[in-house]
Amino acid sequence: MVEGYELWTVIISLIVVKLFHGIYQWSYPKCNGKLPPGSMGFPIIGETFEFMKSHDAFQLPEFVKKKILRHGPFFRTSLFGVKVIVSTDIGLNMEIAKTNHVPGVPKSLARLFGENNLFVQSKESHKHLRGLTMQFLGSQCLKLRIMQDIDLLARTHMEIGARNGVLDVKETSSKILIECLAKKVMGEMEPKAAKELALIWRHFPKGWFRFSWNIPGTGVYQMMKARKQMMNILKETVLKKRASGEEFGEFFKMIFGEMERGGETMSLENVIEYIFTLFLVANETTPSVLVATLKLISDNPKVMQELKREHERIVREKEKEADLTWEDYKSMTFTQMVINESLRITSTVPTVLRMIEHDFKVGDYTIPAGWIFMGYPNVHFNPEKYEDPLAFNPWRWKEKDMTAILSKTYMPFGAGTRLCLGAEFAKLQMAIFIHHLCRYRWSMKTETRVLRRFILMFPGGCDVQISQDTKVDNSVGY
Ligand code: HEM
Repeated sequence: MVEGYELWTVIISLIVVKLFHGIYQWSYPKCNGKLPPGSMGFPIIGETFEFMKSHDAFQLPEFVKKKILRHGPFFRTSLFGVKVIVSTDIGLNMEIAKTNHVPGVPKSLARLFGENNLFVQSKESHKHLRGLTMQFLGSQCLKLRIMQDIDLLARTHMEIGARNGVLDVKETSSKILIECLAKKVMGEMEPKAAKELALIWRHFPKGWFRFSWNIPGTGVYQMMKARKQMMNILKETVLKKRASGEEFGEFFKMIFGEMERGGETMSLENVIEYIFTLFLVANETTPSVLVATLKLISDNPKVMQELKREHERIVREKEKEADLTWEDYKSMTFTQMVINESLRITSTVPTVLRMIEHDFKVGDYTIPAGWIFMGYPNVHFNPEKYEDPLAFNPWRWKEKDMTAILSKTYMPFGAGTRLCLGAEFAKLQMAIFIHHLCRYRWSMKTETRVLRRFILMFPGGCDVQISQDTKVDNSVGY
């Protein structure tokens, strides 16, 4: 007869064996070949905590730097509960960006975008939507329509800021962006709905890139609630407009036009989910990059001086009451050098995020299908491509093609089938914001710090001190 303690010994042994087997399987996941080097960290949490440590936003995270030293340009890990390949190899990043289509986002984000989001679903609908979006965000449209709106909004916000002596850059830029995008997409909105739409974003950044538990009190929960509210505002606006026959913005005109012609059809839900994604992506990128750019300018007096010179010239040469023109924008050569340099140095985050669709061979290694790929543009910090790469030096862009948003040494906006659709728009918005700011005396508050925990963070706030510059007559030229 088996003694009680012997039975317990057998049970405990079985549990221990099962546990070790589970840990082994976790550490060495199944693969039809040899996995890239690296480690999967602790079960479930993987190496998320190390990965999410905040770091200087103008340098790659320590986690990535350490791993490259140890394993080479790409390695395996586990983050946010999913299996991940991190790559700093520009060739591999480009190849994956071209050959893989599905975006690689943690569950919390996928859920935020919506299960039926056309951007996430089929290849065809994605291609179709990209085409439509480019029609109203492409350079020609920016030139003709959006520029005037950004100009007017930036000028107005700056005047208010100068009267108050202070301006929250992130919030102001976000308001300009959303107001301008909403107008293009939806048409004129009721003031109450427009205000709610602008404020609701405050709930989002806290929840980004976390584990996906949607439990009351968590960031994800708050974020999902805000998403629902926002979708309702958008839907109500569309339905009211449709009922009253009021004019829609360009994007909806295109969509409804297609529906009438019996072409590609999308449900209203789908369209609204897409618009929501567009607003979300736009709002989480440009305002933060703009704050980081202003911090870099403010800390570099020579850059500030050169910028002032450029914008004072534009103001001087303009006719009274004249709007900013496309030619004025194109003549902001130094501003564009500053923006390019800032985008280079703030790209301390993966700019190619994909789900691997089929097993992918790279040298002796295999990246298994279903894994998430995160491609860092480490080439931005390669001293052979950029001399003294950690220095903020806009002059390095002199005589270079400033319109290129992607090259073998520059990929702040990603690459391949999912190359950013808002790159031109973002650069335009930043340039106009800088133009109007430079008509004033301004500096970033000294306590402003620019950190990254995957997304950009500003623990000291995003305020600039702003006041009338006695050298520039703001009533002239506008
Ligand atoms: C400085 C600002 C911005 C940066 C750094 C940025 C960066 C990026 C990156 C890295 C990607 C992923 C590309 C890839 O996976 O290969 C992306 C995608 C995207 N961006 Fe931007 N972005 C910015 C501004 C904007 C703005 C203002 C908009 C919209 C008005 C926008 C709309 C999009 C969309 C819709 C996608 C998804 C494209 C697709 O999946 O086909 N972005 N962006």
